[in-house]
Formats: sequence, structure tokens, C-alpha cells
Amino acid sequence: MVAANWKMNGLRRDGRDLARALARLKGTAGEPACDIVVCPPAALLFELRDDLLGAGMALGGQDCHAEDKGAHTGDISAELLADCGCEYVILGHSERRANHGETSALISAKVAAARRAGLRAILCVGESEAERDAGRALAVVGEQLRESLPEAGTSAEITIAYEPVWAIGTGRTANAADIGEMHMHIRQLFGQLKTGGESGLRVLYGGSVKAENASEILTIAGVDGALVGGASLSAESFWNICAHYGR
Ligand code: 13P
Repeated sequence: MVAANWKMNGLRRDGRDLARALARLKGTAGEPACDIVVCPPAALLFELRDDLLGAGMALGGQDCHAEDKGAHTGDISAELLADCGCEYVILGHSERRANHGETSALISAKVAAARRAGLRAILCVGESEAERDAGRALAVVGEQLRESLPEAGTSAEITIAYEPVWAIGTGRTANAADIGEMHMHIRQLFGQLKTGGESGLRVLYGGSVKAENASEILTIAGVDGALVGGASLSAESFWNICAHYGR
């Protein structure tokens, strides 16, 4: 899976242009052997639905509320995301954890809400630079995973994205050995925590993935795809990441 996280970028016209450029590339440059998920800002979801779904790509939200509905000004429900055409929702992104004070307990409730609405969660975990320097990366990510995974939900319903916080938007990426080790750790832990096991689980890597480093990262054992921020704002560069999966 290659997923685009547009974050808070683009107006309606930019979103339309980007979605249509991706649809054109997909139509003319052949089908890469991966699922492609595009996660635009919430206000663009419905508008881009037909272009993206029509071209065989999936739509995802960037967050949802933990409750199904109610007096939560400014929030969006998982059910509304699904109603707008979403199949996925990113949850627990480090920018939500840091900028909105989201705890793993809250994120676990959001993953459960997503499941109730029939959405698949892309659950993000990742250590800070200080935590990695202190040799605590595996422990920190393990704890995030344990606390952010609700009891219900299988590997078909939950994808994990490992995004080291220090690699997001910085142009730096973790080295191959560290990525491989972390992905195996996540897979193993998921298998222990979930009665359904880790079979079929997809663990994505995120943090400064671009066309130039995609092949190096996507060939690491245990890496099942990428969650792409900055490089997903250009159709060409996002497409060149997807194209790693061949045509
Ligand atoms: P960048 O690809 O811009 O580093 O962002 C990664 C990310 O946060 C995706 O969710």
C-alpha cells in the first residue's frame, strides 16, 4: 500500500488538479501492484471522491472523533468519513499526538470508532529523536502500539504506519537496519496482542519518503508500503513512489 497524506495543504482547485493528474497517470502509465490511498483534507473528500474512486484509488480521512456523533464542534465522525466515500482513516499521527495532545488511549477509542463505521484504520506510531538516541525506540513504539490498539480489530482492518517523528518533513530517514528491526518488532507485537495474529498485517514506513529513496525503503524486509507526506503533493513524485511496485 502507498498512502498519500496531504495534511493541511491545497485548496479545492489544487486538490482537483492533483487527483485528476493521479487518475491520468494511473490510466496511462499502467497499474502498479499496490493499493493506493489518498487522504486529502476533510473538506475535499467528497469533492474528490469520484475522480479517485473512479480511477481505482481509495479515499482516506486524516482523523476522526472517538464518538459516533454528538456535540463536538469542529470534529468529524468516522461515519461521515465513510459516507463521503472513505475506506480508510489515518489515526494517531504524531502531529495529532503532539499538536492536539492525543493520547494512545484516545487513539485506541478512535480506532474502535473507525471500525464501527466500517473504516480501516492506518494507525501511526513512532519515536522522537531523543527516544531513539536514548535507545528507547523499540520500547516507546511498543508501548504506543499496546495502548493504541483496541481489543477488537484484525490485520484486515488495521494497518500500522511506523513514522519516526524526527524523519517527518526533515529529509532524513531511518537507516535500513533500524527500519527492518522496528517493522519486525511491530509485526511480532501485533501478533501477540491480537487473537487473529499478524498474518496479512501491513506495516508502512513514513517520514521523508520520496521517489529517490522509495526503492531502497520499500525493499526492506517487513516494509509493506509507505505513508507519504510532502512528496504526495506532486502527482509525478507520488506516482514514482507507487511505481516501485511495478506495472
Ligand atoms: P513527509 O513525507 O513529509 O516526511 O511526511 C510523512 C508523514 O507524516 C506522513 O504521514
